[in-house]
Amino acid sequence: MRSTKMIVVTFCIAVIYSFSASAEEMSDARQLIKLPKNIESKMLINMRDHISALDDIIAAVHKDEYDKAADIAESRLGWSSLVRRGDQEVAKHWAAPMKKMADAMYRASSNFVIVAQDASVEETKASYKKVIGSIQQITLSCRGCHEVFRVR
Ligand code: HEC
Repeated sequence: MRSTKMIVVTFCIAVIYSFSASAEEMSDARQLIKLPKNIESKMLINMRDHISALDDIIAAVHKDEYDKAADIAESRLGWSSLVRRGDQEVAKHWAAPMKKMADAMYRASSNFVIVAQDASVEETKASYKKVIGSIQQITLSCRGCHEVFRVR
């Protein structure tokens, strides 16, 4: 009887321990950036447009519409998007390292414009490869920031 109790207790301890271990594995190491509610929702609206823009860029490239892809990149993810969408108002609330990561996205997107424009003239396999590499520089900038920061 006593040994059954011991087994049950040991089992319970093991279960509790395994829960806490997996909670630790799941722990979120990203840095929380606290934003005023209206700024946070504005930022997330912009973010949702970022992923739509990316999808629109890939769709345009797939159809060999490089000039269209370039326009989307510049106006919705590049330096021009900062002014157009009022990202500046949101970015004021960001920590300096986060602003730097955002700059990496604007830079990668504006660089993409040149690569895409070249591809629209050249239309070679090599230029297509450069276009894909340049898109990946954009997604790398998204990923870089998402791995480090969160707002909730
Ligand atoms: C400067 C940092 C930064 C950059 C660059 C960035 N994001 Fe984000 N994004 C965030 C943060 C922070 C969140 C909120 C994550 C959280 O709190 O869990 C977010 C959230 C999102 C969301 C979720 C929106 C929602 O409504 O929940 C999407 C989609 C997204 N980002 C797409 C992108 C794409 C695509 C790119 C690149 C083209 C990008 N982001 C670039 C910081 C960034």
